[in-house]
Amino acid sequence: MEVKNHFILSNGVAIPSIGFGTWQIPEGQEAHDSTLWALEAGYRHIDTAAAYGNEKSVGQAIRDSGIPRNQVFITSKLKAELKGYEIAKREFAETIRRLGVDYLDLYLIHAPKPWNVHTDGTEYADANIETWKAFIELYEEGKIRSIGVSNFRPEHLDPVIQATGFVPHVDQIFLCPGAAQEETVAYSRPKGILIEAYSPFATGRLFQHPVLAQMAEKYQKSKAQIALRWSLQRGFLPLPKSVTRERIENNLDVFGFSMNEQDLTILDGIQLPFAHR
Ligand SMILES: NC(=O)c1ccc[n+]([C@@H]2O[C@H](COP(=O)([O-])OP(=O)(O)OC[C@H]3O[C@@H](n4cnc5c(N)ncnc54)[C@H](OP(=O)(O)O)[C@@H]3O)[C@@H](O)[C@H]2O)c1
Repeated sequence: MEVKNHFILSNGVAIPSIGFGTWQIPEGQEAHDSTLWALEAGYRHIDTAAAYGNEKSVGQAIRDSGIPRNQVFITSKLKAELKGYEIAKREFAETIRRLGVDYLDLYLIHAPKPWNVHTDGTEYADANIETWKAFIELYEEGKIRSIGVSNFRPEHLDPVIQATGFVPHVDQIFLCPGAAQEETVAYSRPKGILIEAYSPFATGRLFQHPVLAQMAEKYQKSKAQIALRWSLQRGFLPLPKSVTRERIENNLDVFGFSMNEQDLTILDGIQLPFAHR
């Protein structure tokens, strides 16, 4: 697959093909500085969430970068435990207030069910449908340029699409070599749902796998670059996180090489060092 700087969503909106992840970056100096470094390095896509608690610093960094608002693609997410039409509208207003922007590029339902619920989450179908109706309205009013979901599997996506007829533009899921999420990908692709790959390094665990080191040696790239290139060549949009300036820069420098199909297939088949979520 050809790798470009942007993916095009099903509504025609261009989305920069690598997003800077901000989970677990504390609000304040660290979130501000790492986001600013990312923008200075050339990232034009920032992934935050109300649950990360850092929207304020992320928004400040975007303003401090001096880059015009319409050149930065900003994603945020509605907290997993907050569902419903009114709640979604209210929380969206809070998110853009904290970010200091007047629209979002992408807004996601963070998860099909609250994090502390240990069922399959299908009992939240009605709550997700009501939430999704608010997202559709905000989208149609022009307050969000694209809308989507996160951590949704086919059994969560299906009721929402059936009830509203509105197919999410994006599903953001845990996806990296060793966690290819075939079922969700197979469901989403024919519908034109772009898959965003969160935790593209399995929050760091992936680096322990010996195949990553072998591929890094072969291509003379970092293990992180191998993982990101795999994601891009497989058609997924990766969201690498780092608070380290050199790594932030390294993670964007993945457009000047290509991996062969045989090596991509080897990466498809690896087992993550620890059980994945
Ligand atoms: N929607 C969801 O439910 C959800 C869930 C999880 C994640 N996400 C999104 O996906 C993003 C990324 O996932 P993640 O935060 O789990 O982590 P990740 O990007 O998979 O891995 C981050 C870890 O890798 C290290 N790292 C980054 N670049 C490196 C490099 N070039 N060389 C060596 N180490 C490197 C980082 O270290 P340092 O930071 O110390 O440099 C950090 O320990 C999140 O920030 C968030 O935006 C979304």
